[in-house]
Amino acid sequence: MRDFTLPGAGQANEAAALALYRARCSYYDWQLAPYEALRRAAVERLGLQPGQVVLDIGCGSGMSLDLLQQAVGPEGRVIAIDQSPEMLAQARQRVEQAGWKQVELVCSPVQQASLPAAADAALFHFTHDILQTPAALDHVLSHLAPGASLAVCGLKWAPPLYGMLNPLVWWNAVQSVTTLAGLDMPWAGLVLRGARLTVEPVCGGALYLASGRMP
Ligand SMILES: C[S@@+](CC[C@H](N)C(=O)[O-])C[C@H]1O[C@@H](n2cnc3c(N)ncnc32)[C@H](O)[C@@H]1O
Repeated sequence: MRDFTLPGAGQANEAAALALYRARCSYYDWQLAPYEALRRAAVERLGLQPGQVVLDIGCGSGMSLDLLQQAVGPEGRVIAIDQSPEMLAQARQRVEQAGWKQVELVCSPVQQASLPAAADAALFHFTHDILQTPAALDHVLSHLAPGASLAVCGLKWAPPLYGMLNPLVWWNAVQSVTTLAGLDMPWAGLVLRGARLTVEPVCGGALYLASGRMP
């Protein structure tokens, strides 16, 4: 049964997230469609080259997979991780229908996922709960090659000048995350762990696109 507890200031809640995405999976793609331009910009910021290995962290229904597999080409690898079996089932359908041989799907919490030793890039597209999970960040970053590229985007609290957008941010957040902690700077955990990121505010700062590299 869906856990209707509203997200609070604490840590991400795995059971609540699983319930949330079990309930949301049938209409998820429709809800995310308006963010397609941001998804494309995030994948472009990764600067992927043919043959590279890219991690799609919290891949959901696989809406980034086509862009990622095109960018790394048939010699590359896309490793897409999500803990929600229902969301990953949709990703699997996408992969099988398209016949993408270089895409591997991993159904696991990111913090426990089996990952390749040294990936070239990682995408965090609308993955706020994961960004607020220290063990997930430690695990992913320990599986990136030196200089690996990162692209991170999603919701954030708008700055005071655009504060009128924050009820909308809140409304979207309570439908997609299990903690509101860190919504002022969702990427901060990556920076604390050494990532060098440039942050671009999007839509008055109610969204962000952060990109850069590990040292
Ligand atoms: C808002 S969706 C984003 C999906 C996809 N990145 C996209 O842009 O369409 C967030 C996803 O993160 C997954 N998720 C949340 N916490 C996770 C964790 N600790 N490990 C793996 N997946 C997680 C959820 O199951 C959900 O599919």
